[in-house]
Amino acid sequence: MISVSDLLMAMSIGMDAVEKDFFGAMPYHSKRVAAYSVEIGKILGLTDARLYSMAGSALLHDNALTEYIVSETDLDATPWALKTHCVKGQKNAENFPWPYPITGFVQYHHEFADGTGPFGLKENEYPLEAAIICIADRVDVLHGMYKGDEKTMKEIKRGIKEHTGSYYSTKVASAALEALTLPLLESMKDEKISQTLRDRMPRFNMELSDRQRINVSKAAAHIIDYKSHFTETHSVQIADKAWYMSGAYGYDRDMRIRIFTAAAFHDIGKLFIPTSILEKPGRLTEDEFSIIKTHAAKTWNLLHQVGGMEQVALWAANHHEKLDGSGYPFGRSAKELDFIDRLLACLDIYQAVREPRPYHEGRTHKDTMDIMYSMSGKGFIDEGIVRDLDRELVKFEGGVTPTVLDNV
Ligand SMILES: [Fe+2]
Ligand SMILES: [Fe+2]
Ligand SMILES: [Fe+2]
Ligand SMILES: [Fe+2]
Repeated sequence: MISVSDLLMAMSIGMDAVEKDFFGAMPYHSKRVAAYSVEIGKILGLTDARLYSMAGSALLHDNALTEYIVSETDLDATPWALKTHCVKGQKNAENFPWPYPITGFVQYHHEFADGTGPFGLKENEYPLEAAIICIADRVDVLHGMYKGDEKTMKEIKRGIKEHTGSYYSTKVASAALEALTLPLLESMKDEKISQTLRDRMPRFNMELSDRQRINVSKAAAHIIDYKSHFTETHSVQIADKAWYMSGAYGYDRDMRIRIFTAAAFHDIGKLFIPTSILEKPGRLTEDEFSIIKTHAAKTWNLLHQVGGMEQVALWAANHHEKLDGSGYPFGRSAKELDFIDRLLACLDIYQAVREPRPYHEGRTHKDTMDIMYSMSGKGFIDEGIVRDLDRELVKFEGGVTPTVLDNV
C-alpha cells in the first residue's frame, strides 16, 4: 500500500524545484505553505479531516505550474494563463484520495478577499481553505519563511496587516497573525521543515484504489512532461506503452499498475533540471549533459522515501542503466537489472528516439528499431525485449499505443 502523505510530500519537492526554476522560490516552499496553513486552520477551528485535505492541497498548490508556464509563453501572461494553473492544478489534485472534499482549495489559491484575484470572487465566495493557502503562499514567496528569524517575523506581520481587508479577509489575517510565532518560524528552516510538517499535519491512512493509482500516476506524468515543450507527452506515452507491453507479457493487474506507475514517474527528477538546459537547441556541453544525467538519481531520491513505492522507485530510477554497466545513476549491470528495469530502459529509448527533440526530428518505427538493434548488438540493452517491441509496437500508427482504459 502506497503512503499517500509520503507521495504528496515527495511530489511537493519536485514542484518546488519548478517554482524555483521559474520564480526563484526556495526549496520546501510547498511544505512551508502546508505547515503554516495547518497552524492558521487550527486557530480557525478546522477539523482534522479538513486540515489534512488543506495541507495536502497546499503541498500540491502549484502542481500545474509547468502547464501554466507553457500556456504563459503561448499566450503572454494573461489572467487566463494564471487561471490555467489553478484550474488544472485543482483537477490534478482531485486524483488523490482526501478525507474531506477539496473542491476549490487549489483552484482559488490566488483569489483575494476584495475580488481582485483571477476569478474575481470575493471573500465567502470561495472556500476558507483556499484563502488560508493563499496567505501562506504569499507570505512565503514575499518574505521567505525559511529564514526563520525575528526580523522576518516582523516583516511578515507588517505585510499581512498592510493587506488586511483587501487581499486577506480580517478573519484569515488575524488567524495568520496569531499563528505566526518565532518557534513556528524557526521550525520552518530547511533542515527542520519536513519534520515540522510531519508533526503538525494530522494523519490519515488513505488508501489509493486501482483507479486512483492510475489517475495519480497519469497526473504526475502530465506534470513532469510539461516541464519542457519537447517532452509534452513523453512520460504519458511511456506509461501507456508499459501498460500495453505488460499486458502482452501476461502480467496480472496489480503488477501492470505498478509497472505503469514506475513508467509514469521515471523522469520526475527532470523537475530539478533547468528548462534552459532541457530545451537547449544543438549540442549540450559536457557540464550540461552531466546536469541532465542527475535526473535519474533525483528520481530515486524522491521516490524511494515513499512508503510502499520501494520497488517502483527502483524500476523508475534504473531507466538509464545499461546491461554492460555503462549507464547511470548507479552503474548497475545485467545481473542487477531485472526484466522490468530492462523493459523500461528500452521503452524510454524507443519513445525518446521516436519523438521530436531539440536536436532531432521524430523518427519512424523502422528507423527507431535500427538504432535499438544496434544498441542491443553492443550489449547495452536487452535484445529479446527489443525484438518484442519491434513486433508489438509496429502495430501502432505514429507509435501511439491505446491509453489506459477507463474500466481499469
Ligand atoms: Fe499558484
Ligand atoms: Fe506557491
Ligand atoms: Fe530519463
Ligand atoms: Fe525518459
